[in-house]
Amino acid sequence: MWDVVRPKSIQEKLDEAEQAQADKVAAQERKLWKGAEKALKKGVDNAALGAIVSMGTEPADFERKGQKLYLRTGASSANLHGLVLGGSGAGKTETLKRLAAIFASQTDYDIFFIDPKPTADLKFYFAGLMAEYGRTCKMYPDSPFNGFRGDARSVHNRLLTIPVLGTEGASAYYAELTEEYVWLGMNAGDGLPRTFDEVAQRLDYDYLLQYYANDPTSLQSIQRIKRQDANSVVMRFNNVARKFSTISGAGWAFEDVRAAYFGLPVLEASRDVDAIARFLIEDLKHYFATRKQRNRRTVVFFDEFSAFGSENVVNLMELVRSHGGIVILASQTTAALGDDRLQKRILGNVTIYLQRMNDPREVAALGGMQPVLDVSRHMDTKPNPNGIARYVDKSVIDPTKVAQLPLGGAYIINRGRVAHIKVQQAPVLDWNKIGTTHLDLALQWMSANNPNAPVLVRRASPAVPHAAAAARPLAPARTEPTPALAHGAPTKAATPSNAPNQADGADDFI
Ligand SMILES: Nc1ncnc2c1ncn2[C@@H]1O[C@H](COP(=O)(O)OP(=O)(O)OP(=O)(O)O)[C@@H](O)[C@H]1O
Ligand SMILES: [Mg+2]
Repeated sequence: MWDVVRPKSIQEKLDEAEQAQADKVAAQERKLWKGAEKALKKGVDNAALGAIVSMGTEPADFERKGQKLYLRTGASSANLHGLVLGGSGAGKTETLKRLAAIFASQTDYDIFFIDPKPTADLKFYFAGLMAEYGRTCKMYPDSPFNGFRGDARSVHNRLLTIPVLGTEGASAYYAELTEEYVWLGMNAGDGLPRTFDEVAQRLDYDYLLQYYANDPTSLQSIQRIKRQDANSVVMRFNNVARKFSTISGAGWAFEDVRAAYFGLPVLEASRDVDAIARFLIEDLKHYFATRKQRNRRTVVFFDEFSAFGSENVVNLMELVRSHGGIVILASQTTAALGDDRLQKRILGNVTIYLQRMNDPREVAALGGMQPVLDVSRHMDTKPNPNGIARYVDKSVIDPTKVAQLPLGGAYIINRGRVAHIKVQQAPVLDWNKIGTTHLDLALQWMSANNPNAPVLVRRASPAVPHAAAAARPLAPARTEPTPALAHGAPTKAATPSNAPNQADGADDFI
């Protein structure tokens, strides 16, 4: 009771004032977030990345129109490399899907998606999205993939990703021997091998002794490797051949297609899947450097990319930059990017889409600092209501707020500039409209025969040949209303916006 009448101490008054200020800011933030949600609901626009919650200085490679934010897909590809960072369930995959929808609807880029956690849902979604925009998406492992294109040197490099080769001491010596052994084996036949089976057969020790019987130099090289070491290499290729029979010279290669989805469950931690992931990245490097037509541009998405070996992916990213390619990565933590050196190589070269994560301090700091007015008050025995005001530097992105971001919230950090947005959910597909013209037959087959696959094709009859599956009509895959997908023109140069924007004039960056 006494508390009610007791005069408040100066400290209590200050605490209350601070609390009131924090409540005011929180209410303003909620209002801005609701405004962004409303803007997204108002008009589905497949060119937009999301709606602006608040914005400091406009990020260079983005443009704002009204309350929506657009990626300038015409920017130099070097500026379009991206990294989506966020904790589990923060919305990373959804952001990748949205970016894929932007590239599909606004550009002529070829689009590849590499997925370490393949699910039927994502597989079908991605294929449907590509089909919606006229790209037939080839599916790995459902359709045979040709990983054997290129000259002997490049196929050799790729094959060497399969056995695990050491780089130090005795294992370095062993690696050198294996390298030579695989080279000689690979070339011991008519032309280059076209399957892992064929590679394993050519690497058989006795076969090689016989094949090079009249070539003393090569024979000597073969004999320098012990039979049991040779056998272990052969075994690796045999295992890979058994599990990855859909990689063969008869299939499609990157340069043959406009879109592709790779389901490579590397997170299941199988040595063979890891090896295939390395093989695939090596093949991608060769595709970018040598096989890709100069005038074609390609964007590659890697979800949870550290699962593929961060260094491999970063090397790929640095290589594709000079070959008209873009790499967009997703990761749960900064630690997963690799050691300090690797983190710097990545963070210094990408647009960051920072979503909810527990410890974002390091990344948040990349959004730069801004001077904010800090008022400190004297707490003498005699209350002094006058404080001292001074400017202090504070991180533009408040790490606490990143840790509390709602689903789909993201800070975009692009060349030191920041925008806070709500990412627009990836477009809902209308399978009736998509039709079968641009659907990989393997996918139609799966839909008809796999109870876990979305229903693209009526499952009226059981096992049907591909052609019959293709001929049957499509049923809608989802029940929710399907807003028409806008095939709008690419976004133009930034226009001064006179549309209402709740962030306008707000100095506080929230
Ligand atoms: N921008 C968004 N708007 C609305 N819903 C979203 C948005 N982003 C994600 N979601 C929904 O939240 C859920 C989780 O999203 P998502 O799978 O993209 O998260 P994630 O970060 O990839 O999670 P994980 O770490 O498990 O892979 C999904 O059901 C998705 O539809
Ligand atoms: Mg995900």
